[in-house]
Amino acid sequence: MKLIGFLCNWCSYAGADMAGTSRIQQPGDLHIVRMPCTGRINPLLILKAFQEGADGVLVSGCHPGDCHYNDGNYYARRRLELLARMLPAFGIASERFQYTWVSASEGARWAQVVDDFTERVRSLQ
Ligand code: FES
Repeated sequence: MKLIGFLCNWCSYAGADMAGTSRIQQPGDLHIVRMPCTGRINPLLILKAFQEGADGVLVSGCHPGDCHYNDGNYYARRRLELLARMLPAFGIASERFQYTWVSASEGARWAQVVDDFTERVRSLQ
């Protein structure tokens, strides 16, 4: 199974790193792409990931109000919510896509998000 994770550098990537350095066990299906901010994620990139064979795509960034660039994740939230609603029109089950917010200190939460998402997508196989 191939899962792609687009993570903002400042919060979620650091949170994932924290999960790793804390040696929290995680499934190995997620391939992480480090982005400067969720606001820089073009929804077409997510569709491209599905087109190239991804079984699921996860986007994670700073919590609302904590974006390193002030409001990048507010723009992202609007775009991602719209994309989530449009996915079934492209023949992609909406369960295969998730966006979430994980801070740099939430390593355990990151591991839980990855566990839950992996399990959810696996159940669709
Ligand atoms: Fe993390 Fe903008 S820097 S979402």
